[in-house]
Amino acid sequence: MDKIRIIGGNMLNGTIPVSGAKNATLPLMCATLLTEETLTLENVPDLADIKTLIRLLGSLGTHVEIDGDATAKADIGRVIHFTSADINNPIAHYDLVKQMRASVLVLGPMLARLGHAKVSLPGGCAIGARPVDLHIDGLTAMGANITIEDGYIVASAPEGLKGCKFHFPKVSVGATENLMMAASLAKGETVLTNVAREPEIVDLGQCLMAMGAKIEGLGTDKLTIQGVEKLHGAHHRVVCDRIEAGTYAIAVAMTGGEVLLKGANMCLFKATAEKLKEAGVTLKQEENGLRVSRDPKVPLKPFDAMTEPFPGFATDLQAQMMTLLCIAEGAGMITETIFENRFMHVPELMRLGANITIHNSSALVRGVKQLKGAPVMATDLRASVSLVLAGLVANGETTVDRIYHLDRGYERIEEKLRACGANIERIHG
Ligand code: EPZ
Repeated sequence: MDKIRIIGGNMLNGTIPVSGAKNATLPLMCATLLTEETLTLENVPDLADIKTLIRLLGSLGTHVEIDGDATAKADIGRVIHFTSADINNPIAHYDLVKQMRASVLVLGPMLARLGHAKVSLPGGCAIGARPVDLHIDGLTAMGANITIEDGYIVASAPEGLKGCKFHFPKVSVGATENLMMAASLAKGETVLTNVAREPEIVDLGQCLMAMGAKIEGLGTDKLTIQGVEKLHGAHHRVVCDRIEAGTYAIAVAMTGGEVLLKGANMCLFKATAEKLKEAGVTLKQEENGLRVSRDPKVPLKPFDAMTEPFPGFATDLQAQMMTLLCIAEGAGMITETIFENRFMHVPELMRLGANITIHNSSALVRGVKQLKGAPVMATDLRASVSLVLAGLVANGETTVDRIYHLDRGYERIEEKLRACGANIERIHG
């Protein structure tokens, strides 16, 4: 099992290229199931989750062709062509779905295109139970017959899906994406209210429209979709990863220095950017990216933050912002409202000398002068990257174990950080 070893104390200076968004790429890849023509995606990040979904799509019958060699072309990024002309096996098996929960996003497209689908329930994960009841309720409202059999969602719509009005009782990114894709091929009009508004949703909607879908309201909490007979192929560039960009902005905020986050767009993570400014970090949007800097002689000021659906403070940046608070001058409060168990990084940060007290879904963080390096263990994707951030500033050596969690969402993280001066290396286990 690979580990990452960091010797803390170096500032970060230079340029970090931000990759295409993992959480946009995954639903975009599932959209290939909506058409028999080729969907080409560019700026596709090279991540474990993408590899897993490529395997799953291949098992369904999708032909996947990675353009040229796998190394990213300078400013285009990886290009992958997906062709789902004949989906000869509409069953998404547990062994693949359990590795990557977003596999449930094949349900809506397969049901809409083929009229039937069998997808394993994804099961829970480290950060929470992660139910899919909203996906099922929405598709049922569109006329699907859905039963749960032996841990699988068994869905059928022999006469095709019908447009409907569906109000989400709670905001769900994945359920919004599943229903957007299903509604694109349903008969008639679908009106979805209280939908998620994340930039990845907008990116999916733009790709669906390029494929011929008729969608109004992208970026708002109401989507009106006119179903069409067929969708055609398209060529779409994946939006940049706001969570990766936010993570590296927090890294520079902690170490001090100045880094250009190439391709990053601050308005995609505005709530976090505002908090970083409150902490004393300088963020300047430029033509080809976001320049982030902090003078290490000026102490970080604390803040309070509560996670909310977009455009609120992103839950996927919660662990990273908590890590910044660990070395701020004073106390700050972080409240997690989206997932029920997303403080797994706290005990590991405390091994590094952080002073954190948890009260239910809030964590009170009292900044300390210096964190101290130690062996720590990753538990989930964003918790693992928060341990890397802590290691960048901790005194001495920090080793982060189980970094397969990290490889799910961060492309070449040790290369990107080392190029800016971090003393970091991957130890192959
Ligand atoms: C997406 O997960 C992201 N994953 C998550 O990123 C992100 O944390 C989350 O949205 C919130 O922004 C991808 O896009 C692949 P939800 P998703 O449905 O769609 C509850 C990362 O680190 N819920 O918006 O699964 C759910 O339990 C990952 O990159 C139901 O109750 O999240 C949660 O409490 C982690 N019933 C809340 O809603 C449902 O049917 C929000 O979940 C669906 C969700």
